[in-house]
This record gives sequence, structure tokens and C-alpha cells, in this order.
Amino acid sequence: MSMTMKTSFSANPSSFETDCLAVVVLDRGEKDKLQVTVESSDPAVVEAAASVLSTGEVTGKMFETTLVHAPAKIKAKRLLLVGGGKAKTFSNADLRRVAGTAARTLKGKNIRSFAFVAPPNSLPAELAVRSIVEGLYIADFDSDTYKTDRKDQSLQTVNVLSAGDPGKLQQAMDEGRILGESLNFTRDLVNEPSNRMTPTILGERASKMAAEVGLKCEVFGPDKIKELKMGAFWSVAQGSDEPPALIVLRYEPADATGPVLGLVGKGVTFDTGGISIKPADGMEKMKYDMAGGATMLGAMRAIALLKPKRKVIGIVCATENMPSGKAQKPGDVQIAMSGKAIEIINTDAEGRLVLADGLHYARQLGCTELIDAATLTGAVVVALGQINAGVFCNNDALYERFLKAQTTQGEKMWRMPLDEEYRELIRSNIADIINSGGRYGGAITAAMFLKEFVEDTPWIHLDIAGTTWIEDGKPWIAKGPSGIALRSIVEFARS
Ligand code: BES
Ligand code: MN
Ligand code: ZN
Repeated sequence: MSMTMKTSFSANPSSFETDCLAVVVLDRGEKDKLQVTVESSDPAVVEAAASVLSTGEVTGKMFETTLVHAPAKIKAKRLLLVGGGKAKTFSNADLRRVAGTAARTLKGKNIRSFAFVAPPNSLPAELAVRSIVEGLYIADFDSDTYKTDRKDQSLQTVNVLSAGDPGKLQQAMDEGRILGESLNFTRDLVNEPSNRMTPTILGERASKMAAEVGLKCEVFGPDKIKELKMGAFWSVAQGSDEPPALIVLRYEPADATGPVLGLVGKGVTFDTGGISIKPADGMEKMKYDMAGGATMLGAMRAIALLKPKRKVIGIVCATENMPSGKAQKPGDVQIAMSGKAIEIINTDAEGRLVLADGLHYARQLGCTELIDAATLTGAVVVALGQINAGVFCNNDALYERFLKAQTTQGEKMWRMPLDEEYRELIRSNIADIINSGGRYGGAITAAMFLKEFVEDTPWIHLDIAGTTWIEDGKPWIAKGPSGIALRSIVEFARS
């Protein structure tokens, strides 16, 4: 990303020379009466917008954009008004998307440098600046990496204009940049096709990133996976000619206190279903079946740079799920690292197999609190659609803490149940447990399977199958990888 973002702590955006000055407009009217306000404390900016506001064209509704050329009495060449909806409910998550909308609107007109006025009256200045910067980075990502006629449309210089303490604003800007860049790091990994994102390549990308941000990183291959007796992980990997990779990242600050957090990600770089092969329709999407793993890598990146005072270990179990003469077959029995015997009913239920060993390994490495993220089930998409990710948790106190982090970050997730009654759906006749509980409650039985391997360690499971890929672009974000869950996880690690 070539963007250089700068803060200017000027309270007078009207005297700022730029190709475009972007300003938020909100509706401060009561009930149905519209009262559109320009969110700047600079009277000249408000006045510059007065003429277009008087036409009644501007309603302030979310993501509405109005571009004014040669605005009167301000130095900017253009003025962009971006709607943020009702002032009463305007949140940091809204501001992030509004800033993103400004960026994508202007990029579309080949305006790649501009200034964004932080709304002075809705949010604390630091939160506003951080949200704007995050939104700009998120908006700057496009998934058309391999178009041969691709033009570089990335943002060049964006100034964020805000009043406030310069030191604190700079810190807020740095935090926003770290989050935004880490999200785009994850989204880039997820976007890559499977021939360009094998387990080996994912491991290389992880160790390169780790070296850049000062994380300890180990990438293990088949020998170590077998030596650790990761029979569940290996049972998936055995069918592929691509060697699997067990990626372990460690963030270990000297002043660490509290529980050791383990972040475990599903890194299936392509999921054909294996011998229980998937239908051809839509199978190309299974290149993003490593999104949980990529999320954990991006989260570790952000954590390394934001430096919370707690130990965090990131584990990604990366493999392909392929049919072949070496592939496991339905009915096979596999012994997981924990010693549990698993009867394979469906080789397409492979995510829970790699995670079973990843979660057990995390506990063995000393993690006392676990979060996993995985594109685990089609069933969670049936249950929650593409709006909410599924959250499962075996510990209410942990869930409350996570919920707080998730709510402040404005990521949509919905808690799902883990009642003991579901356990019988994954009972096996020949072994301890089967790997597929059938159609009913499929997201829950998948989570119940994972629960067997965390035992009583406080644990959160995030099923992001429906939310990791955005089918249609939105004003503030391109179609493609969403980066869901990264921000909540990082916020949780910092709290
Ligand atoms: N990777 C898939 C889940 C998935 C589905 C991710 C749609 C993204 C979008 C997972 O490995 C899988 O195949 N799950 C099966 C489980 C079943 C065989 C018990 C599913 O959901 O159909
Ligand atoms: Mn599968
Ligand atoms: Zn899968």
C-alpha cells in the first residue's frame, strides 16, 4: 500500500489546500423533519456547503455523496459531502464506513489525494481519527490483483483534519494504520487463488511478516506434524501433494500478565471436500477456506505492533483438502493429538479436524484462553446469512469480555448454543466421536466437535464461513475478502 496518511491538526479546514475536502453531513432533525448539518467547526466550510444544501438535494442519509466543484471561500478545489445518517446513532463504525465511502468515491474519479474533516461533535477526537484512518485503509483495498490492465488506483496522500492534542491524535492515527494495514494483509492472503497460496507459501508469508514486526515464528512441515501425533490434521493433509504447514507465531512481551491467549486459525488453502467431493458449482470459492488462518496472522501482526501486555500465541494449521490415492476415506478412524479417536463420516468436514489438533497444541504450548476462527460450516450461512458471524463460547465470563470488544469494533456476530444435548449427534459406534453430525444444527455440531478438544479451557469459536467474503462491493469496501473478526480479536487481546 503506497498511501501516506498524514494528520494535520488544523482547526481551519477552509484554509487547507487540497484536491478535495471531504466532510460528513448528518441529519440532526427530530422525527421525520430533516435537518442536515455539515460536521465542521469551521464556519467557512459550513458556508461553502450552504448553496448545495439549499437545493434540498442533500439528505444526509448514509453513504450519500455530493460533490461540489470550486466551492466558494475555501482553498480546496472540491468539496465532498458524505452522508452519515442520523446524528443520534452515528457511531465509530459508521464513521469508518463514511470515510471509506469518501475514499472509494474519489478514487473512482481518479482523485487520489484529499483531506477528510474529522466530525468534531459526535465522537471523541482520537476515536474519530482512528476510525477514519481504518476506513481509508479498508477502502483502499481492491481484489482485482491479476487484471493485466489494472491501474494503480491506490490512495496517495490523505490528510485527516482534526482539532485536539497532536500527540494523542498521532497515536490514534498510528493505531488506525496498524489495524488497516493488518486487515489488508489478511485480505490479500485470502484473496490469493490456491495455486498461489499453498500451505508452504502461507508459511513463507507468515515468517516474512513475523520478521518485519518482530514476532517469533516457526513453520513446521509433515515430519513435525507426524512427530506431534497430529493425526487429525495429518488425515486431511495426507491426500494432497502439497505439504501442510503448521505455523506458530509467538508474541511474548517481558511485562506480560494474565491469561496466555491462543489464536488458532483454519488454514485450508483449498477445500475440494476430499473423497466426499464438493459439487463443481461455486467450488472456486474454496480458495478462501484459509480465511480463519489469515485472520489470525493479521491479528498477530497488529498485536505485535500495538504491544498489549499479555502473551499471545498464533497457530495456523495449513493444508489442502484433496481427493487422491492417498486421501482419507469415509469410515476411516483417525487418532487426534489429544488421543481421541475420530471416525471420519465426511471428508468434507475437514476444518474441525485440523482445528482439533491446533487447539490441543495451543493448550500444550501453555495457552489458557483460546479463540479460533474458521470458515467452518455451510450451516452457519444457512442460520445467520452473510450478515453475522457465528460465535460459540464455553464460558460466559469470557463471552462477556469478547462481546465488549466486538461491540466497540462494530463487527456483527451472533452467539449460538452449545447445549450438552447436541453431543449425541456426534457419537460414534466404532470410535469416540464422528466428524459430521449431519444437516440439522450443522454449525453447532461442528462447534461441539471442537469443544471436545478444548475441554474446560475458556474458548471462543468464530464460524466466519458466511461473512469472510463480500459478494457485492459496498460504497466503503470492495467485493472480496472482508477481514471479519480481526478487529474484535485484536481489541479483545488489548482489553
Ligand atoms: N469449508 C467448508 C465450509 C464453508 C461453506 C465455507 C461455505 C465457506 C462457505 C467446510 O469445510 C465444509 O465443507 N463443511 C461442510 C461440513 C459437512 C460435511 C458436515 C458443510 O458445511 O457442508
Ligand atoms: Mn470442507
Ligand atoms: Zn473447509
